[in-house]
Amino acid sequence: MDKKLLIGKALKAKEKAYTPYSGFNVGAALLTKTGKIYTGCNVECVSYTPTICAERTAIAKAVSEGERSFIAIAITGDADWTFPCGVCRQVIREFGKDIIVIVAKSEDEYREYTLEELMPHSFGPEDLD
Ligand code: THU
Repeated sequence: MDKKLLIGKALKAKEKAYTPYSGFNVGAALLTKTGKIYTGCNVECVSYTPTICAERTAIAKAVSEGERSFIAIAITGDADWTFPCGVCRQVIREFGKDIIVIVAKSEDEYREYTLEELMPHSFGPEDLD
């Protein structure tokens, strides 16, 4: 996996963020097992709750193109370190506990976790079996 490339795509996606209410920009880049990268930014809405995070934008783009197997997601945002929110953790979890979550400040400064490390004892699709 080319982590710098993935982070670079997340940084670029962040430039597209639509954030007239918070001014807080986030970008994400999702690497699929087929080797494709889907990017996303946060998109806000005047009635606030319809706002979608960058991570879920990227996941929705990928799933709507037929992708369901993911290796990693890189996230970058305006906080010192921008970690995925709880809702996004659950949505990443939907597609696997082993997905690598890269929280990046820049292409050279990043931290890496598995989804399971960020969300231990999670509820997942297998629990409904
Ligand atoms: N946001 C994301 O895009 N991803 C996260 O995981 C954290 C929060 C966005 C949502 C909202 O547009 C802005 O950041 C402030 O919460």
